[in-house]
Amino acid sequence: MAISGVMRPGHCQLRVLNLDESVKFYTEVMGLKHMGFDAQGRAYFKCLDELDHHSLILRQADKAGMDFYAFKVRDKATLEQLDADLRAYGVATERIPAGEMLETGERVRFTSPTGHVFELYAEKTMVGNGLGFEAPEAIIDGRRGISPIRLDHWQIHGPDLDGSRDLFVKVLGFSLVERIKAEDGVTDVAVWLSCSTKAHDIAFVRDERANTLHHASYLLGTWEQVLKAADIITIHRVSMDIGPLRHGITRGTTIYAFDPSGNRFETFCGGYDFYPDMPVITWPFEEMGRAVFYHTRQLNERFLTVVT
Ligand SMILES: [Fe+2]
Repeated sequence: MAISGVMRPGHCQLRVLNLDESVKFYTEVMGLKHMGFDAQGRAYFKCLDELDHHSLILRQADKAGMDFYAFKVRDKATLEQLDADLRAYGVATERIPAGEMLETGERVRFTSPTGHVFELYAEKTMVGNGLGFEAPEAIIDGRRGISPIRLDHWQIHGPDLDGSRDLFVKVLGFSLVERIKAEDGVTDVAVWLSCSTKAHDIAFVRDERANTLHHASYLLGTWEQVLKAADIITIHRVSMDIGPLRHGITRGTTIYAFDPSGNRFETFCGGYDFYPDMPVITWPFEEMGRAVFYHTRQLNERFLTVVT
């Protein structure tokens, strides 16, 4: 499938309680590259292998959580079309001018039925990964910390899951890849959606707490790197949620832990390739444990209850 329209998760703005401590954490433990601060004092980061200027922005605040989630779209014509499509669907949109965020073009902002603020944008300065585009080396030398490949996806919670699922599928062109059903066998309690050939680019979970973040996920290359991430998490005494483990959903391997502000992050590896002719995978309510934690087949209380 040629990827058109919405291409991938592009950036997100995370609220942190202590900016200095968080800059140190995301640089030294997560192993992201600090790209500098803007005039508002926000800190910008990219994963080493990402090409665009940044994928994470940290903003100091009194409360943890995510300000907004952004997807990069194919080009400016696509941005205009999706803005028109959102408004035609009844979603109010707002334009954030180019330059409000470092090295980033105009953004189209809207709020989803689950209460989350999303952005679409087409332009961000490509700074590259340092390897160049002519006969590049195959690895980036000098990595430190967990050092993920890229920002991969988000899992976010809110009451109107149906509304956000339909908006993403009908207007933004996402595919429904997997779902967990409620005990009634009809209602979706969680959905995994893809705008690419990844098993998911975003997941929505039905939860009475609107506009909440369950986790931001970062991609690793191998299961061994997930295990190494677990070692780094312990060396730095990072607050752990659960892992290393495998998901039934997506088949990915993973660890969940918390940044210094209590925002959960995931270091994720694997997952199958999705193509749009694949039937939707459905998990009945009684298989939820195996769907989420494939080996223990049981959910833990903290994983179910803690969001920011
Ligand atoms: Fe995830």
